[in-house]
Amino acid sequence: MTDIAITRTTSPKQTPPDESLSFGKVFTDHMFLMNYEEGKGWHDPRIVPYAPFTLDPACCVLHYGQGIFDGLKAFRGRDGQVRIFRGPDHAQRLNRSAHYLCIPELDPALVEESFRALVEVDERWVPSLAGTSLYIRPTVIATETFLGVHPSHSYLYFVILCPVGAYYKEGMNPVRILASDQHVRAVKGGLGAAKTMANYAASLYGAEEAQKAGYTQVLWLDAVEHKYLDEVGTMNIMMRIGDEIVTPALNGAILDGITRRSTLTLLRDWGYRVSERPVSIDEVTAAAKAGTLEMWGTGTAAVISPVGELGYKGERYVINGGVTGALTQKLYDTIIGIQYGTSNDPYGWAKPVRRG
Ligand code: COI
Repeated sequence: MTDIAITRTTSPKQTPPDESLSFGKVFTDHMFLMNYEEGKGWHDPRIVPYAPFTLDPACCVLHYGQGIFDGLKAFRGRDGQVRIFRGPDHAQRLNRSAHYLCIPELDPALVEESFRALVEVDERWVPSLAGTSLYIRPTVIATETFLGVHPSHSYLYFVILCPVGAYYKEGMNPVRILASDQHVRAVKGGLGAAKTMANYAASLYGAEEAQKAGYTQVLWLDAVEHKYLDEVGTMNIMMRIGDEIVTPALNGAILDGITRRSTLTLLRDWGYRVSERPVSIDEVTAAAKAGTLEMWGTGTAAVISPVGELGYKGERYVINGGVTGALTQKLYDTIIGIQYGTSNDPYGWAKPVRRG
């Protein structure tokens, strides 16, 4: 594999106290960079001191949004060892997003190594308090300078790291979500399955409205009929209705979440009846009224996040008495057990950063 050149900072920053960590505000000492030019391919992988970029104002990502990213985490185990959760799966998903955005494919082994090598260089930044981790943000932006709509001929791949605590201010307490029949995030045949900036931009207006109404997030419904659940934008949505576990099928408008996948694997191995299928909002509100509903979100940032209340068409539906359900708690405990190395990892999901 191509060697990664490493230039270490001469002025390391002070790391923040673990107790002070929220999400996405503090960045580490180094970043990973690699460039692409047509005819030359991806080249010059390197770790350098964290610093702002200089970008030409005509750089095409700034005008036409040709960019993708991903998000994964490294955890400091109770044994002191740092492990990355499902790095190869995130590298593959980055390439699937690249495909949707007409971005040239990256070598998945080099992408995985970019995570590992950067976390190793900034290992002292991995927090150890329960619930904290080091968030890894790989990103690709189109860098050619032109005005006009066509795929760029040059790109920058970069990875930055930030020590984080819980994503939602509620922590592991149940969140309230609003099913929107007004706004849409993505439509089948569009970019919904890609982790691209456009999907997050599309979610802002609806999310502001939901927050004004007292909700944490929007539950996006399908863009055609406004009838079927898609996802929450910051997480996939999953529920238990009676004895069936249900989550919306990957229909092209939904992100193929890695925590979603982990959760489905666990549930199937535990013997649950699991369905990936269209789920209508009417089915969900009926189950909430009947008291047969437990609901949670899955995501790298959100981990497993219980949903305590659902808003829809002016009604508020309290779910599972507004408290964290037993299955939600079991999923959370199992996943974080694997991430922090305190439970068995039969799937080989958490890989140590240090070789040998
Ligand atoms: C993630 O879960 O990694 C995401 O990218 C979601 C984002 C809201 C932080």
